[in-house]
Amino acid sequence: MSLESVVIQELKRVLPDYGITDLDVAQLLEKPKNSDWGDFSFPTFSLAKIKHKSPYNIAEDIYQLLNKNLFTKVNIVNGYINFFILRTNVSKKLLLKINNENHSFGKVDLGHGKTVTIDMSSPNIAKPMSMGHLRSTVIGNALANIESKCGYQPIKINFIGDWGTQFGKLLAAYKMWGDKREIDNDPIDTLLKLYVHFNQKAKKDPKLNDLGRAWFKKLEDGDKEAISLWKWFREVSLQRFEEIYNDLKIDFDWYDGEAFYNDKMDSVVKKLKSENLLTVSQGAQVVDLSDEGFKNPALIIRSDGASLYITRDLAAAIYRKKKYHSVKSIYVVGSEQKQHFDELKAVLKKMGYEWSDEVIYVPFGLITYNGKKLSTREGRIILLNEVLDNAYDLALKQINEKNPSLINKEEVAREVGYGAVVFHDLKNERIENFDFKLEEVVQFEGDTGPYVQYTNARAQSILRKSESFQIKKDIMDIFDQDAAFDLIKILDQYPQIILQAEKKYEPSILAKYAIQLSKVFNRYYKKVKILVEDDQLYTRLQLVRATSLVLQDSLNLLGIKAPSEM
Ligand code: ARG
Repeated sequence: MSLESVVIQELKRVLPDYGITDLDVAQLLEKPKNSDWGDFSFPTFSLAKIKHKSPYNIAEDIYQLLNKNLFTKVNIVNGYINFFILRTNVSKKLLLKINNENHSFGKVDLGHGKTVTIDMSSPNIAKPMSMGHLRSTVIGNALANIESKCGYQPIKINFIGDWGTQFGKLLAAYKMWGDKREIDNDPIDTLLKLYVHFNQKAKKDPKLNDLGRAWFKKLEDGDKEAISLWKWFREVSLQRFEEIYNDLKIDFDWYDGEAFYNDKMDSVVKKLKSENLLTVSQGAQVVDLSDEGFKNPALIIRSDGASLYITRDLAAAIYRKKKYHSVKSIYVVGSEQKQHFDELKAVLKKMGYEWSDEVIYVPFGLITYNGKKLSTREGRIILLNEVLDNAYDLALKQINEKNPSLINKEEVAREVGYGAVVFHDLKNERIENFDFKLEEVVQFEGDTGPYVQYTNARAQSILRKSESFQIKKDIMDIFDQDAAFDLIKILDQYPQIILQAEKKYEPSILAKYAIQLSKVFNRYYKKVKILVEDDQLYTRLQLVRATSLVLQDSLNLLGIKAPSEM
Protein backbone atom coordinates (compact mmCIF):
# COMPACT_ATOMS: atom_id res chain seq x y z
CA MET A 1 0.00 0.00 0.00
CA SER A 2 1.44 3.38 -0.96
CA LEU A 3 0.22 6.82 0.05
CA GLU A 4 -0.72 7.60 -3.48
CA SER A 5 -2.70 4.42 -3.88
CA VAL A 6 -5.10 5.52 -1.13
CA VAL A 7 -6.17 8.40 -3.33
CA ILE A 8 -6.06 6.41 -6.53
CA GLN A 9 -8.20 3.61 -5.16
CA GLU A 10 -10.78 5.99 -3.79
CA LEU A 11 -11.02 7.88 -7.08
CA LYS A 12 -11.26 4.62 -8.97
CA ARG A 13 -14.08 3.57 -6.68
CA VAL A 14 -16.19 6.66 -7.21
CA LEU A 15 -15.48 7.66 -10.81
CA PRO A 16 -17.53 4.85 -12.42
CA ASP A 17 -20.57 6.02 -10.42
CA TYR A 18 -20.05 9.32 -12.10
CA GLY A 19 -19.98 7.61 -15.48
CA ILE A 20 -16.23 7.80 -15.94
CA THR A 21 -14.31 4.65 -16.72
CA ASP A 22 -11.07 4.20 -18.70
CA LEU A 23 -9.29 7.07 -17.04
CA ASP A 24 -5.64 6.70 -16.08
CA VAL A 25 -6.08 8.17 -12.63
CA ALA A 26 -2.49 7.46 -11.54
CA GLN A 27 -1.21 9.29 -14.57
CA LEU A 28 -3.41 12.32 -13.91
CA LEU A 29 -2.78 12.63 -10.19
CA GLU A 30 -0.41 15.46 -9.37
CA LYS A 31 1.86 16.27 -6.46
CA PRO A 32 1.44 19.95 -5.67
CA LYS A 33 4.68 21.91 -5.47
CA ASN A 34 3.67 23.33 -2.13
CA SER A 35 2.50 20.73 0.35
CA ASP A 36 0.18 23.31 1.95
CA TRP A 37 -2.03 22.77 -1.08
CA GLY A 38 -2.36 19.08 -0.39
CA ASP A 39 -0.40 15.86 -0.64
CA PHE A 40 -2.00 14.98 -3.95
CA SER A 41 -4.32 16.79 -6.25
CA PHE A 42 -6.60 15.57 -8.94
CA PRO A 43 -7.23 17.91 -11.89
CA THR A 44 -10.67 17.66 -13.46
CA PHE A 45 -9.97 19.65 -16.63
CA SER A 46 -9.70 16.64 -18.89
CA LEU A 47 -13.16 15.53 -17.70
CA ALA A 48 -14.77 18.82 -18.63
CA LYS A 49 -15.11 17.82 -22.28
CA ILE A 50 -16.65 14.45 -21.49
CA LYS A 51 -19.11 15.86 -18.95
CA HIS A 52 -19.90 19.19 -20.58
CA LYS A 53 -19.52 20.89 -17.23
CA SER A 54 -17.04 23.30 -15.75
CA PRO A 55 -14.04 21.73 -13.99
CA TYR A 56 -15.18 23.34 -10.74
CA ASN A 57 -18.60 21.69 -10.95
CA ILE A 58 -17.08 18.36 -11.77
CA ALA A 59 -14.76 18.67 -8.78
CA GLU A 60 -17.79 19.41 -6.61
CA ASP A 61 -19.72 16.41 -7.94
CA ILE A 62 -16.83 14.04 -7.34
CA TYR A 63 -16.20 15.55 -3.93
CA GLN A 64 -19.74 14.60 -2.88
CA LEU A 65 -19.05 10.95 -3.69
CA LEU A 66 -15.74 10.65 -1.81
CA ASN A 67 -15.33 8.90 1.52
CA LYS A 68 -13.85 11.79 3.45
CA ASN A 69 -12.92 9.57 6.40
CA LEU A 70 -9.94 8.34 4.43
CA PHE A 71 -8.36 11.77 4.54
CA THR A 72 -7.64 14.50 7.07
CA LYS A 73 -8.96 17.02 4.64
CA VAL A 74 -10.24 17.24 1.08
CA ASN A 75 -10.91 20.55 -0.59
CA ILE A 76 -11.57 22.05 -3.98
CA VAL A 77 -9.52 24.82 -5.49
CA ASN A 78 -10.53 25.81 -9.01
CA GLY A 79 -10.68 22.58 -10.97
CA TYR A 80 -8.54 20.62 -8.55
CA ILE A 81 -9.55 18.28 -5.77
CA ASN A 82 -6.83 18.43 -3.12
CA PHE A 83 -6.27 15.51 -0.83
CA PHE A 84 -4.58 15.61 2.55
CA ILE A 85 -3.69 12.09 3.55
CA LEU A 86 -4.44 10.60 6.97
CA ARG A 87 -0.79 10.39 7.75
CA THR A 88 -0.25 7.90 10.51
CA ASN A 89 -1.41 4.48 9.45
CA VAL A 90 -0.29 4.51 5.88
CA SER A 91 3.04 6.09 6.69
CA LYS A 92 3.81 3.53 9.36
CA LYS A 93 2.90 0.68 7.06
CA LEU A 94 5.02 2.10 4.29
CA LEU A 95 8.01 2.53 6.55
CA LEU A 96 7.76 -1.10 7.61
CA LYS A 97 7.33 -2.20 4.05
CA ILE A 98 10.43 -0.40 2.78
CA ASN A 99 12.61 -1.74 5.56
CA ASN A 100 11.26 -5.26 5.13
CA GLU A 101 11.64 -5.33 1.40
CA ASN A 102 15.12 -3.92 1.62
CA HIS A 103 16.70 -3.66 -1.80
CA SER A 104 13.65 -5.26 -3.37
CA PHE A 105 11.66 -2.12 -2.66
CA GLY A 106 10.61 -0.69 -6.02
CA LYS A 107 10.96 -3.97 -7.89
CA VAL A 108 8.21 -4.74 -10.36
CA ASP A 109 7.78 -7.68 -12.62
CA LEU A 110 7.08 -6.13 -16.00
CA GLY A 111 9.46 -8.38 -17.86
CA HIS A 112 8.76 -11.86 -16.45
CA GLY A 113 12.41 -12.72 -17.04
CA LYS A 114 12.27 -11.99 -20.76
CA THR A 115 15.45 -10.87 -22.45
CA VAL A 116 16.31 -7.34 -23.52
CA THR A 117 19.48 -6.66 -25.49
CA ILE A 118 21.23 -3.36 -24.95
CA ASP A 119 23.70 -2.22 -27.59
CA MET A 120 25.97 0.14 -25.69
CA SER A 121 29.40 1.72 -25.44
CA SER A 122 30.64 0.44 -28.82
CA PRO A 123 33.86 2.43 -29.17
CA ASN A 124 36.02 2.23 -32.27
CA ILE A 125 39.37 0.50 -32.15
CA ALA A 126 42.54 2.50 -32.66
CA LYS A 127 40.78 5.56 -31.35
CA PRO A 128 40.33 6.80 -27.81
CA MET A 129 37.01 6.18 -26.21
CA SER A 130 35.19 9.50 -26.50
CA MET A 131 32.84 11.28 -24.14
CA GLY A 132 30.08 10.09 -26.46
CA HIS A 133 31.05 6.49 -25.89
CA LEU A 134 31.19 7.19 -22.19
CA ARG A 135 27.61 8.44 -22.37
CA SER A 136 26.52 5.35 -24.22
CA THR A 137 28.32 3.19 -21.67
CA VAL A 138 26.85 4.76 -18.57
CA ILE A 139 23.35 5.30 -19.96
CA GLY A 140 23.31 1.74 -21.29
CA ASN A 141 24.51 0.36 -17.99
CA ALA A 142 21.89 2.30 -16.02
CA LEU A 143 19.17 1.15 -18.40
CA ALA A 144 20.33 -2.45 -18.01
CA ASN A 145 20.01 -2.11 -14.23
CA ILE A 146 16.61 -0.46 -14.49
CA GLU A 147 15.33 -3.13 -16.89
CA SER A 148 16.55 -5.77 -14.49
CA LYS A 149 14.76 -4.07 -11.58
CA CYS A 150 11.64 -4.26 -13.74
CA GLY A 151 11.95 -8.00 -14.19
CA TYR A 152 13.70 -8.18 -17.56
CA GLN A 153 16.95 -9.96 -18.20
CA PRO A 154 19.30 -7.45 -19.79
CA ILE A 155 22.08 -8.53 -22.16
CA LYS A 156 24.71 -5.83 -22.48
CA ILE A 157 26.34 -5.93 -25.89
CA ASN A 158 29.44 -3.98 -26.89
CA PHE A 159 29.39 -3.57 -30.67
CA ILE A 160 33.03 -2.68 -31.16
CA GLY A 161 33.75 -0.58 -34.26
CA ASP A 162 36.49 -2.76 -35.67
CA TRP A 163 35.73 -2.71 -39.40
CA GLY A 164 35.54 -0.15 -42.14
CA THR A 165 37.64 1.71 -44.67
CA GLN A 166 39.41 3.77 -42.01
CA PHE A 167 41.40 0.69 -41.06
CA GLY A 168 42.83 0.61 -44.56
CA LYS A 169 44.16 4.11 -43.97
CA LEU A 170 45.55 3.13 -40.63
CA LEU A 171 47.34 0.11 -42.06
CA ALA A 172 48.79 2.24 -44.85
CA ALA A 173 49.92 4.84 -42.32
CA TYR A 174 51.51 2.22 -40.10
CA LYS A 175 53.42 0.73 -43.03
CA MET A 176 54.81 4.15 -43.92
CA TRP A 177 55.52 5.73 -40.56
CA GLY A 178 54.68 3.28 -37.79
CA ASP A 179 56.93 2.16 -34.97
CA LYS A 180 56.05 -1.06 -33.19
CA ARG A 181 57.61 -0.09 -29.86
CA GLU A 182 55.80 3.20 -29.76
CA ILE A 183 52.49 1.41 -30.29
CA ASP A 184 53.23 -1.13 -27.60
CA ASN A 185 54.02 1.70 -25.21
CA ASP A 186 51.02 3.88 -25.84
CA PRO A 187 48.79 2.14 -28.37
CA ILE A 188 45.74 4.31 -28.79
CA ASP A 189 47.49 7.63 -28.76
CA THR A 190 50.06 6.43 -31.27
CA LEU A 191 47.48 4.88 -33.58
CA LEU A 192 45.36 8.01 -33.40
CA LYS A 193 48.35 10.17 -34.29
CA LEU A 194 49.12 7.92 -37.27
CA TYR A 195 45.53 8.20 -38.46
CA VAL A 196 45.41 11.97 -38.03
CA HIS A 197 48.75 12.34 -39.78
CA PHE A 198 47.48 10.24 -42.68
CA ASN A 199 44.38 12.40 -43.08
CA GLN A 200 46.41 15.60 -43.02
CA LYS A 201 48.81 14.29 -45.65
CA ALA A 202 45.96 12.95 -47.79
CA LYS A 203 44.46 16.43 -48.01
CA LYS A 204 47.48 17.50 -50.03
CA ASP A 205 48.17 14.15 -51.65
CA PRO A 206 44.90 12.40 -52.55
CA LYS A 207 46.81 9.42 -53.94
CA LEU A 208 47.28 8.34 -50.34
CA ASN A 209 43.59 7.57 -50.19
CA ASP A 210 44.00 5.01 -52.96
CA LEU A 211 46.70 3.41 -50.88
CA GLY A 212 44.30 3.31 -47.94
CA ARG A 213 41.63 1.71 -50.09
CA ALA A 214 44.11 -0.87 -51.33
CA TRP A 215 44.98 -1.84 -47.76
CA PHE A 216 41.34 -2.15 -46.85
CA LYS A 217 40.85 -4.43 -49.83
CA LYS A 218 43.73 -6.56 -48.55
CA LEU A 219 42.05 -6.71 -45.18
CA GLU A 220 38.78 -7.79 -46.72
CA ASP A 221 40.50 -10.42 -48.82
CA GLY A 222 42.10 -11.87 -45.70
CA ASP A 223 45.68 -10.91 -46.53
CA LYS A 224 47.91 -12.36 -43.80
CA GLU A 225 49.87 -9.24 -42.95
CA ALA A 226 46.83 -6.98 -43.02
CA ILE A 227 44.86 -9.30 -40.76
CA SER A 228 47.63 -9.76 -38.26
CA LEU A 229 48.19 -5.99 -37.94
CA TRP A 230 44.46 -5.43 -37.60
CA LYS A 231 44.25 -8.08 -34.89
CA TRP A 232 47.07 -6.46 -33.03
CA PHE A 233 45.51 -2.98 -33.20
CA ARG A 234 42.22 -4.47 -32.06
CA GLU A 235 43.80 -6.30 -29.15
CA VAL A 236 45.73 -3.34 -27.77
CA SER A 237 42.69 -1.08 -28.15
CA LEU A 238 40.43 -3.48 -26.29
CA GLN A 239 42.94 -3.68 -23.47
CA ARG A 240 42.73 0.08 -23.08
CA PHE A 241 38.93 0.08 -23.15
CA GLU A 242 38.92 -2.63 -20.51
CA GLU A 243 40.85 -0.35 -18.18
CA ILE A 244 38.09 2.23 -18.38
CA TYR A 245 35.37 -0.39 -17.94
CA ASN A 246 37.22 -1.67 -14.89
CA ASP A 247 37.44 1.81 -13.44
CA LEU A 248 33.72 2.29 -13.95
CA LYS A 249 32.96 -1.28 -12.81
CA ILE A 250 30.96 -1.92 -15.94
CA ASP A 251 30.99 -5.25 -17.70
CA PHE A 252 29.37 -6.70 -20.80
CA ASP A 253 27.62 -9.93 -21.54
CA TRP A 254 28.95 -10.00 -25.05
CA TYR A 255 31.40 -8.29 -27.37
CA ASP A 256 30.47 -8.57 -31.03
CA GLY A 257 32.61 -6.32 -33.17
CA GLU A 258 31.40 -5.22 -36.58
CA ALA A 259 33.94 -7.60 -38.11
CA PHE A 260 32.11 -10.52 -36.51
CA TYR A 261 29.37 -9.96 -39.08
CA ASN A 262 31.61 -10.09 -42.14
CA ASP A 263 30.48 -13.61 -42.97
CA LYS A 264 26.89 -12.98 -41.90
CA MET A 265 25.98 -10.26 -44.36
CA ASP A 266 25.65 -12.45 -47.44
CA SER A 267 22.53 -14.08 -46.12
CA VAL A 268 21.04 -10.65 -45.39
CA VAL A 269 21.74 -9.53 -48.93
CA LYS A 270 20.31 -12.79 -50.26
CA LYS A 271 17.13 -12.32 -48.31
CA LEU A 272 16.83 -8.71 -49.48
CA LYS A 273 17.21 -9.96 -53.04
CA SER A 274 14.72 -12.76 -52.69
CA GLU A 275 12.17 -10.32 -51.27
CA ASN A 276 12.80 -8.07 -54.27
CA LEU A 277 13.85 -5.25 -52.03
CA LEU A 278 17.20 -4.43 -53.62
CA THR A 279 17.42 -2.06 -56.53
CA VAL A 280 20.48 -0.73 -58.32
CA SER A 281 21.12 2.97 -58.11
CA GLN A 282 24.29 4.47 -59.63
CA GLY A 283 25.98 1.08 -59.40
CA ALA A 284 25.14 0.64 -55.73
CA GLN A 285 22.50 -1.68 -54.25
CA VAL A 286 19.89 0.11 -52.25
CA VAL A 287 16.55 -0.44 -50.53
CA ASP A 288 13.98 2.09 -51.60
CA LEU A 289 12.25 3.58 -48.57
CA SER A 290 10.23 6.30 -50.26
CA ASP A 291 6.93 4.63 -49.33
CA GLU A 292 8.03 4.88 -45.70
CA GLY A 293 8.49 8.61 -46.08
CA PHE A 294 12.29 8.60 -46.46
CA LYS A 295 13.93 11.03 -48.85
CA ASN A 296 16.83 8.72 -49.67
CA PRO A 297 17.10 4.98 -50.11
CA ALA A 298 19.18 2.90 -47.69
CA LEU A 299 22.55 2.11 -49.18
CA ILE A 300 23.33 -1.58 -48.59
CA ILE A 301 26.22 -2.43 -50.94
CA ARG A 302 28.48 0.24 -52.39
CA SER A 303 29.28 0.33 -56.10
CA ASP A 304 32.73 -1.19 -55.39
CA GLY A 305 31.02 -4.11 -53.65
CA ALA A 306 31.88 -3.05 -50.11
CA SER A 307 29.36 -3.45 -47.33
CA LEU A 308 28.37 -0.58 -45.09
CA TYR A 309 27.70 0.19 -41.44
CA ILE A 310 23.99 -0.49 -41.93
CA THR A 311 24.68 -3.81 -43.65
CA ARG A 312 26.58 -4.93 -40.57
CA ASP A 313 23.87 -3.61 -38.27
CA LEU A 314 21.19 -5.50 -40.20
CA ALA A 315 23.17 -8.72 -39.86
CA ALA A 316 23.75 -8.00 -36.16
CA ALA A 317 20.09 -7.29 -35.42
CA ILE A 318 18.94 -10.51 -37.07
CA TYR A 319 21.70 -12.57 -35.47
CA ARG A 320 21.01 -11.21 -32.00
CA LYS A 321 17.28 -11.78 -32.25
CA LYS A 322 17.95 -15.45 -33.09
CA LYS A 323 20.55 -15.83 -30.37
CA TYR A 324 18.75 -14.11 -27.49
CA HIS A 325 15.03 -14.17 -28.38
CA SER A 326 14.89 -10.68 -26.95
CA VAL A 327 11.57 -8.89 -26.57
CA LYS A 328 13.24 -5.50 -26.99
CA SER A 329 16.52 -4.47 -28.53
CA ILE A 330 17.73 -1.16 -27.25
CA TYR A 331 20.47 0.85 -28.97
CA VAL A 332 22.10 3.57 -26.91
CA VAL A 333 23.78 5.67 -29.58
CA GLY A 334 24.30 9.42 -30.08
CA SER A 335 21.50 11.44 -31.66
CA GLU A 336 23.63 12.14 -34.74
CA GLN A 337 22.89 8.56 -35.83
CA LYS A 338 19.12 8.97 -35.90
CA GLN A 339 18.93 8.61 -39.66
CA HIS A 340 20.89 5.36 -39.49
CA PHE A 341 18.57 3.79 -36.94
CA ASP A 342 15.45 5.01 -38.72
CA GLU A 343 16.73 3.28 -41.83
CA LEU A 344 17.72 0.15 -39.95
CA LYS A 345 14.22 -0.21 -38.51
CA ALA A 346 12.55 0.54 -41.81
CA VAL A 347 14.61 -2.03 -43.72
CA LEU A 348 14.00 -4.70 -41.07
CA LYS A 349 10.30 -3.96 -41.32
CA LYS A 350 10.36 -4.30 -45.10
CA MET A 351 12.13 -7.61 -44.72
CA GLY A 352 9.07 -8.79 -42.85
CA TYR A 353 10.54 -8.93 -39.36
CA GLU A 354 7.63 -8.07 -37.10
CA TRP A 355 10.04 -7.48 -34.28
CA SER A 356 11.36 -4.37 -36.01
CA ASP A 357 8.90 -2.53 -33.76
CA GLU A 358 10.88 -3.73 -30.77
CA VAL A 359 14.05 -2.08 -32.04
CA ILE A 360 14.34 0.88 -29.72
CA TYR A 361 16.74 3.65 -30.52
CA VAL A 362 17.72 5.55 -27.38
CA PRO A 363 19.61 8.64 -28.58
CA PHE A 364 21.55 11.11 -26.49
CA GLY A 365 23.02 14.57 -26.97
CA LEU A 366 26.53 15.86 -27.29
CA ILE A 367 28.92 16.57 -24.43
CA THR A 368 31.30 19.44 -24.67
CA TYR A 369 34.18 19.76 -22.27
CA ASN A 370 34.80 23.24 -20.89
CA GLY A 371 32.85 24.53 -23.88
CA LYS A 372 34.89 22.66 -26.50
CA LYS A 373 33.58 20.20 -29.02
CA LEU A 374 35.49 17.01 -29.56
CA SER A 375 36.56 15.47 -32.79
CA THR A 376 38.96 12.63 -33.43
CA ARG A 377 39.66 13.39 -37.05
CA GLU A 378 41.39 16.62 -36.09
CA GLY A 379 43.08 14.90 -33.18
CA ARG A 380 41.34 17.18 -30.69
CA ILE A 381 40.19 14.73 -28.15
CA ILE A 382 39.74 14.79 -24.43
CA LEU A 383 41.03 11.52 -23.13
CA LEU A 384 38.59 9.82 -20.90
CA ASN A 385 41.31 8.34 -18.72
CA GLU A 386 42.50 11.85 -17.99
CA VAL A 387 39.02 13.02 -17.07
CA LEU A 388 38.62 10.10 -14.69
CA ASP A 389 42.10 10.61 -13.19
CA ASN A 390 41.38 14.27 -12.58
CA ALA A 391 38.02 13.45 -11.04
CA TYR A 392 39.80 11.09 -8.67
CA ASP A 393 42.31 13.78 -7.67
CA LEU A 394 39.58 16.32 -7.01
CA ALA A 395 37.61 13.85 -4.90
CA LEU A 396 40.69 12.90 -2.89
CA LYS A 397 41.44 16.54 -2.23
CA GLN A 398 38.00 17.12 -0.78
CA ILE A 399 38.12 13.98 1.33
CA ASN A 400 41.49 15.10 2.71
CA GLU A 401 39.90 18.39 3.72
CA LYS A 402 36.68 16.97 5.16
CA ASN A 403 37.60 13.61 6.57
CA PRO A 404 41.39 13.23 6.70
CA SER A 405 41.31 10.19 8.98
CA LEU A 406 39.15 8.08 6.63
CA ILE A 407 40.83 4.68 6.32
CA ASN A 408 40.27 3.60 2.70
CA LYS A 409 40.61 7.09 1.24
CA GLU A 410 41.89 6.07 -2.18
CA GLU A 411 39.09 3.64 -2.80
CA VAL A 412 36.44 6.11 -1.67
CA ALA A 413 38.01 8.84 -3.80
CA ARG A 414 37.70 6.58 -6.82
CA GLU A 415 34.07 5.82 -6.03
CA VAL A 416 33.31 9.50 -5.52
CA GLY A 417 35.35 10.85 -8.43
CA TYR A 418 34.13 8.35 -11.01
CA GLY A 419 30.64 8.44 -9.52
CA ALA A 420 30.62 12.21 -9.98
CA VAL A 421 31.39 11.93 -13.69
CA VAL A 422 28.81 9.20 -14.20
CA PHE A 423 26.14 11.01 -12.21
CA HIS A 424 26.63 14.24 -14.11
CA ASP A 425 26.24 12.35 -17.32
CA LEU A 426 23.01 10.74 -16.15
CA LYS A 427 21.25 13.59 -14.40
CA ASN A 428 20.73 15.55 -17.61
CA GLU A 429 17.89 14.48 -19.80
CA ARG A 430 19.77 12.28 -22.20
CA ILE A 431 18.80 14.13 -25.36
CA GLU A 432 20.16 17.45 -24.04
CA ASN A 433 23.58 18.68 -25.10
CA PHE A 434 25.56 19.74 -22.09
CA ASP A 435 28.89 21.03 -21.01
CA PHE A 436 31.12 19.37 -18.57
CA LYS A 437 33.28 21.25 -16.05
CA LEU A 438 34.99 18.84 -13.76
CA GLU A 439 35.34 21.31 -10.87
CA GLU A 440 31.56 21.71 -10.73
CA VAL A 441 30.86 18.04 -11.10
CA VAL A 442 33.06 16.75 -8.29
CA GLN A 443 31.50 18.87 -5.54
CA PHE A 444 30.00 17.63 -2.33
CA GLU A 445 27.38 20.38 -2.54
CA GLY A 446 24.94 21.14 -5.35
CA ASP A 447 23.07 18.76 -7.64
CA THR A 448 25.94 16.33 -7.90
CA GLY A 449 26.67 12.65 -7.44
CA PRO A 450 28.96 13.31 -4.46
CA TYR A 451 26.10 15.21 -2.80
CA VAL A 452 23.86 12.16 -3.03
CA GLN A 453 26.69 9.88 -1.88
CA TYR A 454 27.46 12.24 0.98
CA THR A 455 23.85 12.27 2.09
CA ASN A 456 23.82 8.50 2.17
CA ALA A 457 27.10 8.44 4.11
CA ARG A 458 25.53 10.86 6.59
CA ALA A 459 22.57 8.52 7.04
CA GLN A 460 24.93 5.58 7.47
CA SER A 461 26.91 7.47 10.08
CA ILE A 462 23.74 8.13 12.09
CA LEU A 463 22.90 4.44 11.95
CA ARG A 464 26.41 3.51 13.12
CA LYS A 465 26.21 5.91 16.03
CA SER A 466 22.81 4.62 17.03
CA GLU A 467 24.29 1.24 17.86
CA SER A 468 25.28 2.46 21.31
CA PHE A 469 21.71 3.51 22.14
CA GLN A 470 19.03 1.64 24.02
CA ILE A 471 16.27 1.20 21.52
CA LYS A 472 12.72 0.00 21.99
CA LYS A 473 11.55 -1.39 18.68
CA ASP A 474 8.16 0.24 18.29
CA ILE A 475 7.05 2.15 15.27
CA MET A 476 5.49 5.31 16.65
CA ASP A 477 3.59 8.12 15.09
CA ILE A 478 6.12 10.74 14.04
CA PHE A 479 4.34 11.69 10.86
CA ASP A 480 2.44 14.61 12.26
CA GLN A 481 5.75 16.42 11.79
CA ASP A 482 5.90 17.76 8.27
CA ALA A 483 9.61 17.03 7.87
CA ALA A 484 9.08 13.32 8.58
CA PHE A 485 5.96 13.13 6.45
CA ASP A 486 7.68 14.88 3.53
CA LEU A 487 10.39 12.26 3.70
CA ILE A 488 8.05 9.26 3.73
CA LYS A 489 6.08 10.88 0.93
CA ILE A 490 9.07 11.07 -1.35
CA LEU A 491 10.20 7.55 -0.44
CA ASP A 492 6.71 6.45 -1.42
CA GLN A 493 7.35 7.69 -4.97
CA TYR A 494 10.35 5.45 -5.62
CA PRO A 495 8.54 2.55 -7.38
CA GLN A 496 6.77 5.00 -9.69
CA ILE A 497 10.05 6.73 -10.47
CA ILE A 498 11.58 3.44 -11.57
CA LEU A 499 8.60 2.68 -13.77
CA GLN A 500 8.81 6.09 -15.41
CA ALA A 501 12.56 5.79 -15.97
CA GLU A 502 11.98 2.40 -17.57
CA LYS A 503 9.14 3.54 -19.75
CA LYS A 504 11.04 6.53 -21.11
CA TYR A 505 14.48 4.91 -21.09
CA GLU A 506 15.52 7.91 -19.08
CA PRO A 507 17.96 7.42 -16.18
CA SER A 508 17.83 11.17 -15.49
CA ILE A 509 14.41 10.68 -13.88
CA LEU A 510 16.07 8.47 -11.29
CA ALA A 511 19.11 10.74 -10.86
CA LYS A 512 16.91 13.79 -10.31
CA TYR A 513 14.84 11.84 -7.83
CA ALA A 514 17.98 10.90 -5.88
CA ILE A 515 18.92 14.57 -5.62
CA GLN A 516 15.42 15.46 -4.49
CA LEU A 517 15.37 12.70 -1.89
CA SER A 518 18.76 13.88 -0.61
CA LYS A 519 17.43 17.41 -0.23
CA VAL A 520 14.34 16.30 1.65
CA PHE A 521 16.43 14.09 3.92
CA ASN A 522 18.90 16.89 4.66
CA ARG A 523 16.01 19.15 5.57
CA TYR A 524 14.74 16.50 7.95
CA TYR A 525 18.23 16.11 9.41
CA LYS A 526 18.46 19.85 10.02
CA LYS A 527 15.02 20.10 11.62
CA VAL A 528 14.90 17.02 13.77
CA LYS A 529 17.34 15.74 16.34
CA ILE A 530 17.53 12.08 15.44
CA LEU A 531 19.82 10.53 18.03
CA VAL A 532 17.87 11.25 21.18
CA GLU A 533 16.81 8.46 23.49
CA ASP A 534 13.05 8.78 23.51
CA ASP A 535 10.28 6.45 22.44
CA GLN A 536 10.36 7.72 18.86
CA LEU A 537 14.03 7.01 18.33
CA TYR A 538 13.45 3.68 16.64
CA THR A 539 10.97 5.15 14.19
CA ARG A 540 13.32 7.97 13.27
CA LEU A 541 16.13 5.49 12.73
CA GLN A 542 13.90 3.34 10.55
CA LEU A 543 13.17 6.42 8.49
CA VAL A 544 16.88 7.11 8.16
CA ARG A 545 17.48 3.50 7.23
CA ALA A 546 14.73 3.54 4.59
CA THR A 547 16.20 6.72 3.10
CA SER A 548 19.64 5.20 2.96
CA LEU A 549 18.26 2.06 1.33
CA VAL A 550 16.56 4.00 -1.41
CA LEU A 551 19.56 6.30 -1.95
CA GLN A 552 21.86 3.30 -2.25
CA ASP A 553 19.49 1.52 -4.55
CA SER A 554 19.13 4.57 -6.81
CA LEU A 555 22.88 5.06 -6.97
CA ASN A 556 23.44 1.39 -7.69
CA LEU A 557 20.89 1.41 -10.48
CA LEU A 558 22.73 4.37 -11.95
CA GLY A 559 25.95 2.37 -11.73
CA ILE A 560 27.45 4.41 -8.90
CA LYS A 561 28.90 3.15 -5.64
CA ALA A 562 27.53 4.32 -2.33
CA PRO A 563 30.40 4.44 0.18
CA SER A 564 29.20 4.28 3.76
CA GLU A 565 31.76 6.81 4.86
CA MET A 566 33.37 9.67 2.99
N1 ARG B 1 30.96 2.39 -33.18
C1 ARG B 1 29.92 3.34 -33.47
C2 ARG B 1 30.44 4.75 -33.27
O1 ARG B 1 31.35 4.96 -32.50
C3 ARG B 1 28.70 3.15 -32.63
C4 ARG B 1 28.00 1.84 -32.80
C5 ARG B 1 26.61 1.87 -32.27
N2 ARG B 1 25.91 0.63 -32.35
C6 ARG B 1 25.36 0.11 -33.45
N3 ARG B 1 24.76 -1.05 -33.40
N4 ARG B 1 25.39 0.75 -34.59
O2 ARG B 1 29.89 5.67 -33.85
